[in-house]
Amino acid sequence: MLVAPPAVRLPAKAAVERALLELEQRLGPSKVDTSEAGRARHALDESEAVGRMPDAVVLAADASDVAVTLVVAEAHGVPVTPRAGGTGRTGGAVPVAGGIVLATHPMSGILEIDRQNLIAVVQPGLITAELHAAVEAEGLFYPPDPNSLKTCMIGGNVAENAGGPRAFKYGVTRDYVLGLEVCLMGGRVLRTGKRTVKGVTGYDVTALLVGSEGTLGVFTELTLKLIPKPTSVATVLALFADVRDSAAAVARVVASGLVPRCLELMDGPTLSAIRAQGVAVDPRANAMLLIEIDGTDDASLDHAIERLGESLTEGGKTIDVVAAQDASQRARLWEARRKLSPATRKLAQYKLSEDVVVPRSRLVDLFAEVDRIGDETGVRHLTYGHAGDGNMHVNWLWDDAGDRPAVDRAIEALMRATIRLGGTLTGEHGIGVLKAAYLPLEQSPELIGIQQDLKRVFDPSSLLNPGKIFPTGHGSC
Ligand code: LAC
Ligand code: ZN
Repeated sequence: MLVAPPAVRLPAKAAVERALLELEQRLGPSKVDTSEAGRARHALDESEAVGRMPDAVVLAADASDVAVTLVVAEAHGVPVTPRAGGTGRTGGAVPVAGGIVLATHPMSGILEIDRQNLIAVVQPGLITAELHAAVEAEGLFYPPDPNSLKTCMIGGNVAENAGGPRAFKYGVTRDYVLGLEVCLMGGRVLRTGKRTVKGVTGYDVTALLVGSEGTLGVFTELTLKLIPKPTSVATVLALFADVRDSAAAVARVVASGLVPRCLELMDGPTLSAIRAQGVAVDPRANAMLLIEIDGTDDASLDHAIERLGESLTEGGKTIDVVAAQDASQRARLWEARRKLSPATRKLAQYKLSEDVVVPRSRLVDLFAEVDRIGDETGVRHLTYGHAGDGNMHVNWLWDDAGDRPAVDRAIEALMRATIRLGGTLTGEHGIGVLKAAYLPLEQSPELIGIQQDLKRVFDPSSLLNPGKIFPTGHGSC
């Protein structure tokens, strides 16, 4: 165990037993899994966050199962942790108070693809890559593309407001959520938002729910905006001897007025990890940009690639610029990028991946800060990510559990440096459990307080996903 779960209120054993009995009666025993293996499968996510073993997993088949669970849990005072794919990076779906994990993965349907209005209506357990495939088969496009897209689910994407490489041009999950059906603790059901592109009726409750990390309600249906699928895509790779030159090239590309859909940067240690996967990368390179431009017209795409090449090579610091010649080369380049996260995991016993964001113009300063922090704390690191958005994954790597205090010092120093540079703590993974202690570095007590007031409106008994976002019992900094 790396760190202890936060100090949250735990449910009384007798109350849990009564709640589970009632759930078994109302939902049927097959939907209430109390087996050791079933509970263990739903106790962790893809971060190092440590929770408490849930007492049961409810496998919700429809919105009514979700509502019944939230009625019963509220009545008996049992905490509920909602979960879709469980691929989160900050412990958002990790049950830190035991109780019930409410698994929505059985609700995985596509209810509607409306070509005329460019809308998809889906259930929370739908795997993101399956949504992509279904809409692309119709010539449509759902741009958000978290790198875990083959395993993550749309309900979790919306709960965390997930991003991904294509966010530079197309924005993040929030930009594609038009409306939600959401069930609140106690069983109230709300339908928020709209099916139209425009709409300003009332407060934007949909926007509040997107990125609320499962603390306000449980999504049972999502109405998503689609766009026409781009027909031409080009991938370009640029190599540099120094990461600072690659960051300067990012600034030049953006200043040139080009809007690539992806602008990804990998530093030297990251390239070593890629080489270790058997992908040949020029040994002189200590930084790489992976850039993708799309459009609907081949001629203008060719022109954009030409301009991109000019921006990249201006300044004379580029070792090489290569354009992928065909779809299989493109796929191979991206496969290496997508596998980076699991590949990094293999480099050390333990890994924590941050997703800090700084203004794009401060990327060079961020790299300098990361090196300084690494030198001061002695913690190994590698950095890659969505440079176009200034959103970088700084990965801390260590092998000995005894090094954890040094890692914590490194993380806190990174958070402080990010704020100093005018940035934000998390660009796409959320605060969850792991970053809750750092929230006050970025937000004032007044702003944190008003969010806690909102939380009480949705969940007065504080039973839905407790221990997330707000710094209570997470240690302090
Ligand atoms: C990525 C995930 C970690 O970009 O957000 O690889
Ligand atoms: Zn990312």
